[in-house]
Amino acid sequence: WWRNVEPAAKDPILGVTEAFLADPSPDKVNVGVGAYRDDNGKPVVLECVREAERRIAGTANMEYLPMGGSVKMVEETLKLAYGDNSEFIKDKRIAAVQSLSGTGACRLFADFQNRFHPDSQIYIPVPTWSNHHNIWRDAHVTQRTFHYYHPGTKGLDFAALMDDIKNAPNGSFFLLHACAHNPTGVDPSEEQWKEISYQIKAKGHFPFFDMAYQGFASGDPERDAKAIRIFLKDGHLLGLAQSYAKNMGLYGQRVGCLSVLCEDEKQAVAVKSQLQQLARPMYSNPPVHGALIVSTILGDAELKKLWLKEVQGMADRIIGMRTALRENLEKLGSPLSWKHITNQIGMFCYSGLTPEQVDRLTDEYHIYMTRNGRISMAGVTTGNVGYLANAIHEVTKS
Ligand code: LMR
Repeated sequence: WWRNVEPAAKDPILGVTEAFLADPSPDKVNVGVGAYRDDNGKPVVLECVREAERRIAGTANMEYLPMGGSVKMVEETLKLAYGDNSEFIKDKRIAAVQSLSGTGACRLFADFQNRFHPDSQIYIPVPTWSNHHNIWRDAHVTQRTFHYYHPGTKGLDFAALMDDIKNAPNGSFFLLHACAHNPTGVDPSEEQWKEISYQIKAKGHFPFFDMAYQGFASGDPERDAKAIRIFLKDGHLLGLAQSYAKNMGLYGQRVGCLSVLCEDEKQAVAVKSQLQQLARPMYSNPPVHGALIVSTILGDAELKKLWLKEVQGMADRIIGMRTALRENLEKLGSPLSWKHITNQIGMFCYSGLTPEQVDRLTDEYHIYMTRNGRISMAGVTTGNVGYLANAIHEVTKS
C-alpha cells in the first residue's frame, strides 16, 4: 500500500526543534520556533492562565462544543480585534468560529476561499511564515507573491509592495500580517497601513489578516490591532485569523478564531454555517479546555488586567534582549550594522544571516535557528546572549 511513500521533507521551523532536542550539547541554544521563554530559557505558563485553570478545575463538563466552538470565547476574541464597542459586532455582521489556533483559522479560510472562489488566487508577502505556503497549497488555492521585505534596508519595501497591490488583478485576495510580521519583524507604519488600505480598497481586493502576535508588537493588544481598525474604518470586508498561542502562551491548547466581516447579518449567518460545514468533516468541533481558559480570563476584569500586564512583560523582555544582542555584537567590534535587531519588532529578528552562516552556527556552536536567518528573540536570555553574539560575530567575520 505505501511502498511508493517517500519520507516528507522536514518542516523548516518545527524540524529545527527536532534537531535541537536531539543535540546532547550543554551549550545548545534554540532560537528557532517562535515560543516564548523566560530569562532562564524555560517555557512560561502565565499567572492569569494558572488562575483560570484553578477556577475551571472540577467545574466544567467535557461535552462537545458546538461546531463553531465556544460562543463566549469567540465573543471576547472579536472584541480584542474589532474593538469593545465595535458596530460590526453589534450589527452581527461578523461570521466567526473558534479555530485550531491561527493555523487552523488560516486553513479554514483557505478552504472556504477555495470552495466559494475556486478560481481565485492568494497574494502572499515575500517572505512569510513558511506554513502559509503549505496551508494555501493544501487548500488548492493558487499562490502569488507580493514584495514586502527589502534585504538592503532590512525594512519594508513599501514602494514595491504598493506597486504589487496596484498590479494585481482587481478583486484578488491578499494575505497580510496584522502586526509583528513573521519572519521579518518589519511592520508598516500607521501612515503606510492607511495607504495600503486605500489601495486595496481601490482595487477591490479582499484583505485576509493573520494576527498571530497581537500584543507582541507594542506590548498592548489594543495598539496592535491598529491595522485592522484602519481597514475597518475604511469600510473593507475582511477575514481575520486570531491565535492565543503566543499572547496567552496557550501554544498546545490550539485555541484561536476565524472571523469574516460580512455585508449584513444574513450574510454572516450563511458564511458561519458554511465555515461550520467545512469544520465538521475535518475535526467536527474544536477542543474545549483552551477556549474555557481564554473566556475565563477575558470575561473577568481582574484576570484580563493581569493578562495585559503579563503580555507587556513578555514584550518588554524581548525588547531588552534585542538591545542586549545588538550591544554585544557592537562591543565585539562587528563591522556590520546591527541596527535592524532593535528596529524590528515582535518575536523575531530577521538577522540577514545566510543559510551557510546559520549552518555554521548550528554545526560549530549548537545554535539552532531557521535557515532563513530568523532569530526567535523569545529564546534569547541574559545567560545566552553573549554566547549567541559571539557566535554570530565569528560566522559573519569575513
Ligand atoms: C513560528 O513561526 O515559529 C511559530 O508560528 C510556530 C510554528 O508553528 O511555526
